[in-house]
Amino acid sequence: MFNINLFDIKLETNTIGRNFIYLDEIDSTNSFLLDKTNNISIDGSVVLAEKQTKGRGRKNRTWYSEKGMNLNFSVLITNKYFFSEKINYLNFGVSLAIANSIEKLFFIHTNVKWPNDVLINNKKTAGILLEANSNGNKIERLVIGIGVNVNQTSFNGDFNFLPTSIKYEIKENIEREKLLAEILNNFENVLLKIISKPESVLKDWRNKCSSIGKRITITQNNKTLSGIFEDIDEKGLLILRMHDKIKKIHFGDVGIE
Ligand code: BTN
Repeated sequence: MFNINLFDIKLETNTIGRNFIYLDEIDSTNSFLLDKTNNISIDGSVVLAEKQTKGRGRKNRTWYSEKGMNLNFSVLITNKYFFSEKINYLNFGVSLAIANSIEKLFFIHTNVKWPNDVLINNKKTAGILLEANSNGNKIERLVIGIGVNVNQTSFNGDFNFLPTSIKYEIKENIEREKLLAEILNNFENVLLKIISKPESVLKDWRNKCSSIGKRITITQNNKTLSGIFEDIDEKGLLILRMHDKIKKIHFGDVGIE
């Protein structure tokens, strides 16, 4: 059971998570917040579910998570500032907020992987799925879905990258309430930073990305590209050096060679 009072005591935000909806079971917390008919419109509303029956990952993958073990939640963003090119900064900012929260609470080193995974010992412990509802090309609702593997210690399924959890790595049971509050506290701070100092968010992300400068592969549907991960640009695109050619990558899975 998730103890909402315990979570509330640790929450220090002004908006993020102040409207908190706790669900036992739902198809997907992202779908729930994207659906206007659920009448949730307060900026920063958070929906947490103990179990998702149709949890989604990036590129139409399924997000598997055992009931009551992890943190599967979504955050509604209504600030139109982010309904722009700055949307890519959310991937970086939110993955940093998660990575920094884990480091601060559990004294364990984390890395980030383009565009938005959080790694411990080179295995994936958290993923982010940004989704929006649009009318024409106008975004109406923006939802950031976050899945953190917290207390689950065995993983079955078809994974594009080896999964892990915080408990698996530090061999201790984790208080999910404390972790969620810490993530949301950092999340709110990073949103403010994206607005006031976006270049510093990119700089922090680069510093936490261990594959920059290394030879990587990018898998896009059935195509694989190989080259040196030079950098990320000011829009958040991955810059891949292939021999003497530079290619900007909009989407794909990064593998380290
Ligand atoms: C990925 O790495 O592929 C992204 C995973 C995102 C999973 C979260 S869990 C909460 C929210 N609801 C969903 O259906 N997906 C996201």
